[in-house]
Amino acid sequence: MKGIDVSAPSFEHHHDGLGVSTSQPRISWHFSHLDNSIKGWQQDSYELGISFADSDQTHTFTVKSSQSICVPWPARALKSRERTKVRVRSYGSSQSSDAQQSEPEPTEWSPWSVVEVGLLKRTDWTAQMIAAPKQLKNKDGSLTPIRLAKTFTLPANRNVVRARIYMTAHGCYDTRINGHTVGDHGMAPGWQSYEHRLHYQIFDVSEHLISGSQNTIDVQIGPGWYASALAWAGGRRCFFGDTLSLLAQLEVEFDDNDHLFVLNTDSSWSSLSSAITSSEIYNGETYEMALERDASKLIPQSSAHSSARIIGFPTSNLASPDTPPVRVTQEIQPVSIFRSKSGKVLVDFGQNLVGRLRIVKLQKAAGTTVSFSHAEVLEDGELGTRPLRFAKNTDRIICDGSELENWTPKFTFHGFRYVEVDTWTPEDKDCPFTVDSIVAQVMHTDMQRTGWFECSHSLVNKLHQNAIWSMRGNFLSVPTDCPQRDERLGWTGDIQVFAPSASFLYDTTGMLGNWLDDLAAEQLSPKNNGVPPFVVPDVITKSHAEDNNYWPAIPNAVWDDVAVLLPWSLYRASGDLNMLRKQYDSMKAWIDRGIRRGADGLWDPELYQLGDWLDPIAPPSEPGNGRTDGVLVADVYLVQVTKKLAEACELLDIAEEAAKYNADATRLLGLFREKYITKSGLIAADTQTALALGIMFGLFEPHQLQAAGDRLARSVRMQQFRVATGFAGTPIVLHALTAVGHSQIAYRMLLEQRCPSWMYAVLMGGTTIWERWDSMLSDGSINPGEMTSFNHYALGSVVNWLHETVGGISSLEPGWRRILVRPIPGGNLTHSKVTHVGPYGRIECAWQLTEGGLFKMTLEVPPNSEAVVVLPSQQFKEKDVHKSEGLQVGSGQHEFECHLAEPAWPPQAIMPPFWPQPQPVFG
Ligand code: BGC
Repeated sequence: MKGIDVSAPSFEHHHDGLGVSTSQPRISWHFSHLDNSIKGWQQDSYELGISFADSDQTHTFTVKSSQSICVPWPARALKSRERTKVRVRSYGSSQSSDAQQSEPEPTEWSPWSVVEVGLLKRTDWTAQMIAAPKQLKNKDGSLTPIRLAKTFTLPANRNVVRARIYMTAHGCYDTRINGHTVGDHGMAPGWQSYEHRLHYQIFDVSEHLISGSQNTIDVQIGPGWYASALAWAGGRRCFFGDTLSLLAQLEVEFDDNDHLFVLNTDSSWSSLSSAITSSEIYNGETYEMALERDASKLIPQSSAHSSARIIGFPTSNLASPDTPPVRVTQEIQPVSIFRSKSGKVLVDFGQNLVGRLRIVKLQKAAGTTVSFSHAEVLEDGELGTRPLRFAKNTDRIICDGSELENWTPKFTFHGFRYVEVDTWTPEDKDCPFTVDSIVAQVMHTDMQRTGWFECSHSLVNKLHQNAIWSMRGNFLSVPTDCPQRDERLGWTGDIQVFAPSASFLYDTTGMLGNWLDDLAAEQLSPKNNGVPPFVVPDVITKSHAEDNNYWPAIPNAVWDDVAVLLPWSLYRASGDLNMLRKQYDSMKAWIDRGIRRGADGLWDPELYQLGDWLDPIAPPSEPGNGRTDGVLVADVYLVQVTKKLAEACELLDIAEEAAKYNADATRLLGLFREKYITKSGLIAADTQTALALGIMFGLFEPHQLQAAGDRLARSVRMQQFRVATGFAGTPIVLHALTAVGHSQIAYRMLLEQRCPSWMYAVLMGGTTIWERWDSMLSDGSINPGEMTSFNHYALGSVVNWLHETVGGISSLEPGWRRILVRPIPGGNLTHSKVTHVGPYGRIECAWQLTEGGLFKMTLEVPPNSEAVVVLPSQQFKEKDVHKSEGLQVGSGQHEFECHLAEPAWPPQAIMPPFWPQPQPVFG
């Protein structure tokens, strides 16, 4: 079948195949149509070609299966370090015009992919962890960065055929070999629950090594997440340990095949002083140019160095995770340089972003300190640093009179749009500060982008872009709440509500799957008794230290429910059942042991719950004190997570448990209805969050659903379309309105511009999603609440509605094997286009409204998947759509059109008749 292209295979959810952590990596591939006339193509079987390094032969394995995601490894198990080439071709057939399937034909072979196994056993490591002879501290108590180096000579007259360095650190590291930076990772090894797991990285360093000559390896290590002050109120330093250290193992193979050169970290390494004299995540980095030395020249002079200290092998599990590394993914030039009211030099990058500066060129007299302070907003014409709380966010360069080029801090990052530059001005005679002097480097976990959306409404497009920026800024090694203040922690509730949006926009399976490993390790450790910590990795619960600034380890719905709902989201997005299998113990522990129940089996009604956090009505200092009681929110979630666990058990073929949790879910649903829902379909509390949760989580009886939906619509009209929900209600309120036939009210709410609304922040010039609906007040001042970030993705979870309802695509079966295509046009939008590159390939749906109410739509469905299309003219409610009454279409390009009855627009607010309706402006 020449018209179907098969991608190069990928392995597990590993970002590049170098260092998979299993001997039998599962294999996936996706498809694209090369020929638009092919329709309804389905795979019937596949062939895998596997070429082992130790034989010239390619082994071919033929499997009769339509599966193309995570298929089992068909060959012998691989060994640590083993490198293998894999390719695939599929046999499949398309549907002819008379709906007959043709005989299966093979595609062309895919390109080869290479998979290489990491170090599977602890005994594969021969290196020791090493540190400086004495760990020094700075005056502020932060650990002084260290530098460890070694010179070595490789045998002459042999060519290097493969060189790998396996390495990790307690702290974050930066490696050079013979002056060349090793790899392009930032903040390696990333953040993990160091107590349980330690990530190591693998780099191909062949091109940096020189045979027959002296080579130098030079590694700097800063505190990073391991030892920087973390959490609020000044934070706690050295949470995971008080010694920076390095573990590295260089293995070099030569063309003569009988010699393996191994260089391990051990006491023969030298300890040097680093020119990075201080560095912390929140506070920034200081670099003293005068201390910069070439390690290769220093080491042979015995007075300039001392020997490294061996501190033994790490006790936690060494893991080479699937997650992509943190990288610089974009550089942004300053938009302007200007003076603040008080005369400070300020730079505006035009975009609130996360990363660091690159100083292109700087030259200043010896001893001059140039500093760069970062913040997200201006207030009163000055850098708005109050929301940063204790975080200093300042990098410093202490100059030595020579020229510095392309400097970046190494072990810190900042959330910023503005930078205040001290002691370097545009008026300087030599080397003046100009827009060409600095660049902002955007950093995040370098996931594959998979989702795009655009429509005819420029403010909606801006809202969508803002959500993407907030996702990029908060997916930096772990999914965080915010990237700028003294927090930047893996808050579980934030990712729980944002995960469906995130997994549409980027391939998050590797990163979030790995974070769930940390979550499970923490939750299942004896001290936590099945309760996940509020933040993962945990740096805030009381079990770690007796201190009033730590949080108690109390169970909390919505946040801890991440243990069930995130594996579920990842399974839905990736189609990989292993996401549920590997998290099963964690899901079950949360439901069986973690949740604190009252006598009836619902949540203990006495517990504090964060609930519908940041409901706009909650006072700035009490974000959990909204209009929907947290226990009700918790009970809704309890029914939902119990159902999801039951479904997971069914999928995993654990019949007995499935029956048990199904029975529990039914019993809890009954209790919930009895406790909260009236016969007519009202719910206590009578709020948008409660109604929306009830509708979306299936808590109303079918005959109550419309009444609940109408009540929700009434409430939205009473609020004059301004937002009235927090973390729990916001992701679903527009979905709930749509599900009960009130999509125009959902559009009206989306487009509302007064505060609180999504468009308010956009119109206030926001370039990211804000933590609070009014993080910036309309007079340009910063919200008085001490918890005010301008980069929080949770409330941006509304983009999921843009993808599914405006754009019109959602997944009906895990992995997008069956796609629901049901765009619902509304408001004053006239076109939209949504794209998702799912596990089977590219899905794209574009529609436009023409004069006269004609709705025209084009749809691309990837091979080996199918879609159910529901056109606006035949819209019916979501429940019915799941029964698949739409039109079934196979893969390929399709076109549709229908007449659209003119929908009533705009809907009216419910107001006293003697008051004028708010005058809507829809942009
Ligand atoms: C974080 C939130 C988080 C919350 C829960 C805040 O400080 O920024 O996003 O979920 O605390 O208490």
